[in-house]
Amino acid sequence: MENKDNQVSITEVLHGPYIVKGVVKLTTKDGKESILDGTNALCRCGRSLHKPFCDGTHRKINFEKDEE
Ligand code: FES
Repeated sequence: MENKDNQVSITEVLHGPYIVKGVVKLTTKDGKESILDGTNALCRCGRSLHKPFCDGTHRKINFEKDEE
């Protein structure tokens, strides 16, 4: 376990995913539950082929580049 204090942090990456650190329960839209531990990147652009995780597609589509 990465975090001894059971704290969870979520950091928004500019033009990229949310970085989630800590132990969290993830529930998918079909009700499947899993425990995430450590550091995970969750897709924020909506185009990942491996949702809910980021697969790097945000770089290919220039996610939010036009908002600078
Ligand atoms: S944020 Fe990385 S693929 Fe969507």
